Amino acid sequence: MVKSIKEIEQQAFEELEKALTSEDLESLSIKYLGRKGLVTTFLRNISKLPEKERPNAGKNANLLKTVLDKAFKKAADKLKAQKGGTDDFIDVTLPGRPMTRGHLHPITKISREISDIFVKLGFDIAEGPEVETDYYNFEALNIPKYHPARDMQDTFYISDSIVLRTHTSPTQPRVMEKTQPPVRIIAPGKVYRCDSDITHTPMFHQVEGLMVDKNVSFGDLKGILTTFIQQIFDKETSLRFRPSYFPFTEPSAEVDIRCVICKGKGCRVCSKSGWLEILGAGMVHPAVFENMGYDTDKYTGFAFGVGIERLAMLKYGIDDLRKFFENNMRFLGQF
Ligand code: PHE
Repeated sequence: MVKSIKEIEQQAFEELEKALTSEDLESLSIKYLGRKGLVTTFLRNISKLPEKERPNAGKNANLLKTVLDKAFKKAADKLKAQKGGTDDFIDVTLPGRPMTRGHLHPITKISREISDIFVKLGFDIAEGPEVETDYYNFEALNIPKYHPARDMQDTFYISDSIVLRTHTSPTQPRVMEKTQPPVRIIAPGKVYRCDSDITHTPMFHQVEGLMVDKNVSFGDLKGILTTFIQQIFDKETSLRFRPSYFPFTEPSAEVDIRCVICKGKGCRVCSKSGWLEILGAGMVHPAVFENMGYDTDKYTGFAFGVGIERLAMLKYGIDDLRKFFENNMRFLGQF
């Protein structure tokens, strides 16, 4: 049955009440007053009504047309005013934007990976302060004042006797003065050097390793480092030990790995040498043991220090060290 004009009116006003957006109003206007709208259709069908009803029906329908037209316009104006005269409307019924999940920073990830490897090899995790005394950073490590080796590291001095630690090695004397051998620790953490370019940042991360016991040999150092590197990279990665100098180890070595990019063929990353320098290491210098009151006839030990960013760059193929600290979410989101 055709709806009476009263019914159409009632329905239109009910729906108008629920209209929240200009889109809602637009579709109401089409629904009632459009070419195929309810009021329009009613008017078009008037000829089908009994003759005596036609004049009234026509009058009422035309009246409703005007009334609705005005009501819709008024509602649209009101909406616009509420929005401060603009067309943006906050639709509170839209679903919220999904929150992106946070994740670990690549440096944290690789630090934890390194710690896991050494914990499985029986090492404990040690920590030391980043604001360090001259004594632990240098003196106890056989680097007296005016020793030329102090120039190897561009130190940030807080005062004459306080520095930002330039390496994680001060954790060695800090652990040794509190414990008797056997000692097996690694110490990951931040270190600081006054240096900044594509391969240097004023703050970076290292992991120190120290093992002291009866009969610890250079062979043990090689074995531990080989196991470690092969777990971080792959089982085929070979290592090369080059003689070097650190005041706190004797003999000392710099350790290279077969280039993980070109597998030794020679590329841009390894400067065509096929090898990448990755860490410093050596047998703990007897002078360091003496500072700690360790019996140098009874005990020997090895120590090593690895740059964590350097490992991460090679592992993930990153060419600029500074990227780790710029906090660009598009960069960090890849790990
Ligand atoms: N501390 C040295 C550096 O930062 C690395 C190192 C650690 C070398 C332990 C030998 C033994 O360069």
